[in-house]
Amino acid sequence: MTSDQEAVAGKRRGESGTDTNSAPSVGARRHLLSVSDLGAEGIEEVLRVADAFVEVSKRDIPKVPALRGKTVVTLFVEESTRTKLSFETAAKRLSADVLSFNASSSSLKKGESLRDTVETVAAMGVDAFVVRHSAAGAPAAVARWVDTCVLNAGDGWHEHPTQALLDCCTIRQVLAERDGRAPAETGVECFKGLRVAIVGDVRHSRVARSSVLAFGALGARVTLVAPGTLLPPAVEAWPVAGVSHDLDEVLPQTDVCYLLRLQGERGAGRFLPSVREYAAAYGLNARRAATLADGALVMHPGPMNRGVEIADEVPDLPGSVILRQVANGVAVRMAVLFMLLGTPQGKSPAGAVAGLEDAWETSGA
Ligand code: MLT
Repeated sequence: MTSDQEAVAGKRRGESGTDTNSAPSVGARRHLLSVSDLGAEGIEEVLRVADAFVEVSKRDIPKVPALRGKTVVTLFVEESTRTKLSFETAAKRLSADVLSFNASSSSLKKGESLRDTVETVAAMGVDAFVVRHSAAGAPAAVARWVDTCVLNAGDGWHEHPTQALLDCCTIRQVLAERDGRAPAETGVECFKGLRVAIVGDVRHSRVARSSVLAFGALGARVTLVAPGTLLPPAVEAWPVAGVSHDLDEVLPQTDVCYLLRLQGERGAGRFLPSVREYAAAYGLNARRAATLADGALVMHPGPMNRGVEIADEVPDLPGSVILRQVANGVAVRMAVLFMLLGTPQGKSPAGAVAGLEDAWETSGA
């Protein structure tokens, strides 16, 4: 087993120290390293606070003073557009100071170890590290080295917890809107029995690992759809309802079609005879999208490989919520930053939200 597989298998066995349904609340934690740190209650708590920040995002001045005086470092040692900008936007909208670490012009290039770099930055007096790294487990290592909050912004094939949270936020928001209700009124009931197909390069995807944990914790029925070579080893132990190699068969029974990027930088190309054949069998195009269950959503974490897992026309179809995922990403990251940094340790979810209201009142926002 690779360390990635062990990490995921460990999570299924509850080795993160938390059962996926009874994890302590986010406010009582110091870090967000895995979806299994949250459990169903923790996810719902994040979604509740995120809804409040969705409202903030709609204001003329979408900013609150909740994290004034706090410093957040975005330590990205792997490429990113949306996740890095999203975390930085979130921290700035909470009035935190942001230190944006640029790996390519840092002392890492001169041979400094990650640990020395992290300890050096921490010595400047920072409150949170948002860590992206190509090695699974890097954010957990940072959490051991420094006495600071750590948020996992994607580590190797392992996990990408805030992506899964923003996906849950988006699904709940759209389904609530259709019912003419506020998301908070629907709770997480809308996930019970929801048929989610996660399609594509599951093997190399940290998004799939986090999403399977999150959707599963909330009661969705997840089916993985991929060629055998792009399924993870030991897939039978994954907490999913099924596995399929036939996208056309699965689509009519799908309420949420979640497409994954074919991850060339992680070697996905070596697992396929040809990318063209892969796109023909597993790519979502308008013809296929028309066979989805009524009102189905199409999601993608980005960046998209147009013409591979998603045809050019699909992001513009009415069921596509891809840009909404990006927009909600800011609110969800505001929520987790606020809950980890903005409330005293051990404060309840209700206390966290009440603290948020206080922060708004004192700001006159
Ligand atoms: C990630 O960082 O994992 C992205 O959000 C998804 C991808 O790269 O395919």
